[in-house]
Amino acid sequence: MDKFLIEGPCKIRGEVLVSGSKNASLPILASTLLFDQPVIIQNLPKVKDIDTMLNLLKSLGSNIVLSKDKKTAKITNKKNMKTFASYSLVKTMRGSILVLGPLVAKYHKSKTSLPGGCLIGARPVNYHLAALKKLGMNYQIKDGYILAKSKGKLKGTIINFPNISVGATENSIIAACLAKGKTILRNCAIEPEIKDLTKFLNSAGAKIKWSGRTCEITGVNYLNQTKYSVMADRIEAGTFCIAATLTKGHLEIKNLDPRVINTELKLLKKAGAKIKTNIDKILIQGPKKIKSIGNIKTKEWPGISTDMQAQLMVLMCKASGKSSITENIFENRFMHVAELQRLGAKIIINNNKALIQGNTNFIGAELMSSDLRASVALVLAALVSDGRSYINRIYHLDRGYEKIENKLKKIGVSIKRLK
Ligand code: EPZ
Repeated sequence: MDKFLIEGPCKIRGEVLVSGSKNASLPILASTLLFDQPVIIQNLPKVKDIDTMLNLLKSLGSNIVLSKDKKTAKITNKKNMKTFASYSLVKTMRGSILVLGPLVAKYHKSKTSLPGGCLIGARPVNYHLAALKKLGMNYQIKDGYILAKSKGKLKGTIINFPNISVGATENSIIAACLAKGKTILRNCAIEPEIKDLTKFLNSAGAKIKWSGRTCEITGVNYLNQTKYSVMADRIEAGTFCIAATLTKGHLEIKNLDPRVINTELKLLKKAGAKIKTNIDKILIQGPKKIKSIGNIKTKEWPGISTDMQAQLMVLMCKASGKSSITENIFENRFMHVAELQRLGAKIIINNNKALIQGNTNFIGAELMSSDLRASVALVLAALVSDGRSYINRIYHLDRGYEKIENKLKKIGVSIKRLK
């Protein structure tokens, strides 16, 4: 298994080109199952999870032609596609559950594996199933699979999500596109990736309208061919902004609409970073002294993203003064804490709240990745540790960050991937 060797401390400077968003690409790719016509998706990130989703679509019968740089996919579905999403594929990438909605909407049946949990939590899909059931999907769970079917087309209806869920909102919007009549979804997640999904679907003739957390979808009979470029990855951009703030560095982050990480940029300004933005660029200068941001609480968009929590924790370890982080989205998303403590971090966990002592000195060590965002937090910590750090199991990183070592090398980080 590959690992990273990082020599710290370092100061980063230069510019970073942000890749396409993994969390926008996954639902957009899954929704191509609704199409009879060829559809072209551009600006895909070259990350493991996208490969997995493309392989899943191929296993269902999609013909996929990739551009040389693997960032553009031309997807053409067969007349009658398979509707079996196997455990072997779904277990490696939970986002595969997003094929359930389109398969039932288009083919009126599907055998899709339950995704199972992951390290950050049980990750149930009950909101997905309840919403699709209300649209007319009948299902039973057998041997870890969802055996789903519908009597002909799904039927538009009113759905109130009991809690906000990104995936359940996406599955329902995709399924409702081909349902008969109008669907109104209330208490939706409104992350930018979901808006990117609905912009993509509307570009193909879907009829989706938003007002606050309410989404209204008027079913259509088919979707037209379209070409669409996926939005930039706001979590990758936010991660690099934290890296610049941490290392007192200077970075220019390009081709991203800064509004998608406005909340996080406000936090970094509070920590002392100097930030200038224009429509598709962020200029950030890290402060000499990092100030504590106080009590950070993760929340659904437009709150502080849970996918930035681990990275912000590293920053707070280096801030002058105490701070706390409360994780409100996932039940077990503090795996990075034990690893940071090996570097010298002083953090106490109280249920879903971490109390962080600032001004800690990090000494390089052997570290173990756990989930995608915890792994990148370890990379950030290694940047500001004295001496060598080895980060093991970086396949977690490869799932969501496109060749991160190349991007880091270009901005002055001494990093090597060891086979
Ligand atoms: C999406 O996961 C993202 N993944 C996650 O990013 C992100 O952390 C999360 O949204 C929150 O923003 C993708 O977009 C592929 P949820 P998702 O449904 O859709 C509970 C990353 O690092 N829940 O909003 O699974 C759930 O357990 C990943 O890129 C139910 O109880 O998130 C969680 O506690 C990690 N029942 C909370 O809701 C359900 O049916 C939020 O989950 C669905 C969710």
